[in-house]
Amino acid sequence: MRRLRNPKIRDLIAETRLSLHNMIQPIFVDERLSEPKLIESMPGQSRQSMESIQKEAGELEDLGVPAVLLFGLPFHKDEVGSASYDKHGVIQESVRKIKEVTGLTVITDICLCEYTSHGHCGLIRNERVLNDETLPILSAIAVSHAESGADIVAPSGMMDHMVLAIRTALDLDGYTEMPILSYSAKYASNFYGPFREAAESSFTFGDRRSYQMDYANAAEAIWEVQLDIEEGTDMVMVKPAMPYLDIIKAVKDQFGMPMAAFQVSGEYSMIMAAVHRGWLNEIPSFIESLTSIKRAGADMLITYWAKKFAQVHR
Ligand code: PBG
Ligand code: ZN
Repeated sequence: MRRLRNPKIRDLIAETRLSLHNMIQPIFVDERLSEPKLIESMPGQSRQSMESIQKEAGELEDLGVPAVLLFGLPFHKDEVGSASYDKHGVIQESVRKIKEVTGLTVITDICLCEYTSHGHCGLIRNERVLNDETLPILSAIAVSHAESGADIVAPSGMMDHMVLAIRTALDLDGYTEMPILSYSAKYASNFYGPFREAAESSFTFGDRRSYQMDYANAAEAIWEVQLDIEEGTDMVMVKPAMPYLDIIKAVKDQFGMPMAAFQVSGEYSMIMAAVHRGWLNEIPSFIESLTSIKRAGADMLITYWAKKFAQVHR
């Protein structure tokens, strides 16, 4: 085996190689800011303002990052998350601004948790999530994102039938060409912690275990993905990524569909925390973690490290 491991041959026979072409950079846009603000829980990441978003998008495009995934922080939160489907909401305006100055592929996250006062991903009554009552709102968000020029919508709330509801609404409004990237197998994970600080989307009571998946389960992921495919999703996602490589492989093997894996905030921040302590080396650690996610079967990598990857691989 050692004859194949010399540096030259090693590269020639490498099965998996990262490419910027498959990477998606998440961006937080905060309507309340007048300039970018560092996110304490995610070293190296910032929230953008409505003014700074065009510059950031331009930089990403110049670096060759092909796609972004937008998360919004609105001025106002309420019980039903009405800012989420406002035609002039933070995401709707951000999409227009990015599209004005770049050709980036803009993916929008569709969920209520950043817009609701209680921080849950659906409507709430008596501290319970109302799955079916939430669906028309998710549909309205999707249509408003389509109207503003988004390229792909990505429902992340794990409501049952969200894909069917969104597909139907998009088609009725004439957006028959709008692809859906569903967060099909999204686990109730501890690794979302830093994101909830970044997006101020933490819940005021309970947790997300009634709608996100139990990390003890693998077969359930196949079932979730199957349902989303039947409802018309175009692409699927597994999230988080590195603690769920078995799920990524199983989903890819079973369906062969275009699949994204989301290297989530906690995965990013734990590497960065170790980097800051001198315990890990940033570039090779991220390259290794992302390579393993791709090797497991992910086609698209959603990673907070996409911009950095672009910078170090020019
Ligand atoms: C909201 C949402 C979350 C993430 C993406 N969309 C958090 C959650 O479900 O609490 C997590 C992303 C990350 O941790 O990087 N539905
Ligand atoms: Zn949510």
